[in-house]
Amino acid sequence: MGAVPVRLASSSSLLLLPLVLLQLMMLLASACDRCVHHSKAAYYTSSLTLTGGSCGYGTAAASFNGGFLAAASPALYRGGVGCGACFQVRCKDKKVCNSGGARVVITNRARTNRTDLVLSRPAFAAMAKPGMAEKLAKLRTVDVEYKRVPCEYKNRNLSVRVEEKSRAPNELAIRFLYQGGQTDIVAVDVAQVGSSNWKFMTRDYGPAWSTSQAPPGPLQFRVVVTGGYDGKWVWADREVLPTRWRAGEVYDTGVQIADIAQEGCFPCDTHDWTK
Ligand SMILES: *[C@@H]1O[C@H](CO)[C@@H](O)[C@H](O)[C@H]1NC(C)=O
Ligand SMILES: *[C@@H]1O[C@H](CO)[C@@H](O)[C@H](O)[C@H]1NC(C)=O
Repeated sequence: MGAVPVRLASSSSLLLLPLVLLQLMMLLASACDRCVHHSKAAYYTSSLTLTGGSCGYGTAAASFNGGFLAAASPALYRGGVGCGACFQVRCKDKKVCNSGGARVVITNRARTNRTDLVLSRPAFAAMAKPGMAEKLAKLRTVDVEYKRVPCEYKNRNLSVRVEEKSRAPNELAIRFLYQGGQTDIVAVDVAQVGSSNWKFMTRDYGPAWSTSQAPPGPLQFRVVVTGGYDGKWVWADREVLPTRWRAGEVYDTGVQIADIAQEGCFPCDTHDWTK
């Protein structure tokens, strides 16, 4: 893949962000996501629970990350803001667990606080040493350590699915798919291609954003991502949605987010975990 066409926000443009957004950023900044957390993980016996998860990815989730999905506890799920975040998780029992563990993407909210993560079955099995998957599965709940890692979608750009409730031309609802990097999307603007008359979109839930004042197409987008102290604009300043955009379609933004969260949490293990 080529270079990621992102531009750093100037500090002046960030000053224009609403105060509430800055407060949200500061809240997120204290999460120490990248640091290692110690908890327990369980797994789902059915895959439907995850693909039909509360993040609303629907069947698209099945194609995320090779089916390595997870439901997150309320603290990680963050009311939907945690949807699409990636975590590397490994179990601790050295007899059955490998040292690399599994990389999972959050697609659902766990209904329990007893474990931080409920993994899809393939992800749970991937934590096992060769030949130990069955033994690991029998344990059902295991001690784990995990940390947030950048999501990598090797052959995908950040994409938007136009949601069914959209009504052209003005009622536009989108859901982000294949969001790379280790940062959260905290603001979204839409404008006609070539125009600087940006309209902000409001987060409906998790990765879903909408506006009832969408300009006529073709449409471009810009988003603010953050995962630390600072916010940054990522621009898809080319046609993302055509003039006649259609509900149910998925459109490629032509950009991908690859940012690593900047956090000041110490001590913090940022070493790679490998097999
Ligand atoms: C989980 O913990 C949060 C905060 O600690 C609490 O608000 C919530 O009710 C708990 N949920 C369950 C299912 O126990
Ligand atoms: C991602 O976007 C670039 C343009 O920025 C494009 O050349 C490339 O084909 C896109 N990748 C995919 C997998 O669609």
